[in-house]
Amino acid sequence: MRKKIDEKTLDHIVEEMVSMVENSKDEIFNIGEEARREHENLLLELQDTKEKVSHHIDNGDKLEQQVKSFKKRLSVVSKHFDRYSEAEIQEVYVNTNDMQTKLAVLRQDEKVLRKRRDELERRLVMLNQTIERAESLASKISVILTYLHDDFKQVNEIIAEAKEKQEFGLKIIEAQEDERKRISREIHDGPAQMLANILLRSEIVERSFKQGTMDKTLTEIKSVRRMIRSSLYEVRRIIYDLRPMALDDLGLLPTIKKYVATVASYHESIKIEFIPYGEEKRLPQEYEVALFRLIQESLQNAVKHAKATRIKVKLEIGKNNLTVIVSDNGIGFDPDSIKDKSFGLIGMRERVEMLEGRLSITSSEEGTKVFITVPYNAPFSNS
Ligand SMILES: Nc1ncnc2c1ncn2[C@@H]1O[C@H](COP(=O)(O)OP(=O)(O)OP(=O)(O)O)[C@@H](O)[C@H]1O
Ligand SMILES: [Mg+2]
Repeated sequence: MRKKIDEKTLDHIVEEMVSMVENSKDEIFNIGEEARREHENLLLELQDTKEKVSHHIDNGDKLEQQVKSFKKRLSVVSKHFDRYSEAEIQEVYVNTNDMQTKLAVLRQDEKVLRKRRDELERRLVMLNQTIERAESLASKISVILTYLHDDFKQVNEIIAEAKEKQEFGLKIIEAQEDERKRISREIHDGPAQMLANILLRSEIVERSFKQGTMDKTLTEIKSVRRMIRSSLYEVRRIIYDLRPMALDDLGLLPTIKKYVATVASYHESIKIEFIPYGEEKRLPQEYEVALFRLIQESLQNAVKHAKATRIKVKLEIGKNNLTVIVSDNGIGFDPDSIKDKSFGLIGMRERVEMLEGRLSITSSEEGTKVFITVPYNAPFSNS
């Protein structure tokens, strides 16, 4: 089975990579340091060898001179056997021989030293290359480490964000299903049952009409009319909840005014006010829908959760910004601690982000304030 990669696994992989790369960096650093130490030692040895070579050359030259003069003397002595004793000739001969041997040894030593010098110079060039390579490798590894530390963290964040988006997408589908269930239940329990009732009552009307009891017929007709009216009200409420048609027909401000009034009429114990500022004008559809939903959710949250006695809904249609403030004097909550599970607030954030706006919630025991501002002239982003 294929293993699912999540942020934790990725973190682990990245950590392992980082530690491996860090070890390699240390190793390369050690190699560089060793090469540098060897370089220093060899440099000293090279200086020493060079000095020795020049010493040998000097000594060799002097010795050569001496050998030459001895040879000259030897040839003089050899030519005049009669003038020199055998011992004298012997001495000159032995000395010349000694000198020549010394010179040969010296030249041999010099050769060895020269060879060592050349070898040292070659080795130093190679060590220099090693040091340079180690330095460039270490700096490349530093780049890799930065990449692993910073950019991979970003990759992780991107993956986490994508996952959150995916989860959010699933939540949307789930919410759509819930919404459908809720609507079908509402229609089933409300208008459908009322229509069935109306059908039944209309049969009663027909029967009492046939029986000629006018008063009863009229009472029944009145009751049927009441039922039709309340069904109509229910159907309209359901449609309104789905998508207020007034939003398309009249625009944001009148729709919200009506919506707030309707909510207020359902909750008489709460004083709910709508306070509009700025110009009353039509906005692009996506802004009107988004702002309506944002206000709807904030107001519903305040009504549902806050236990408030006062709620204010403010909307300002400014020149460059649209601003919404929904404040209540309720019990408050901690907006940070419920981040993951609450769909209403997540949906609000998502909507505001889509419009490149800003949402902030401040809440205390004295109440909650939802503040939303959306740049109005900014192009609508579909991403
Ligand atoms: N104005 C408020 N006053 C007090 N608590 C609030 C307020 N707004 C939100 N909350 C708290 O935050 C939680 C999350 O709100 P959210 O709108 O995300 O979810 P919900 O209202 O519980 O469910 P849904 O909106 O999906 O029907 C609420 O359950 C509530 O505890
Ligand atoms: Mg809610």
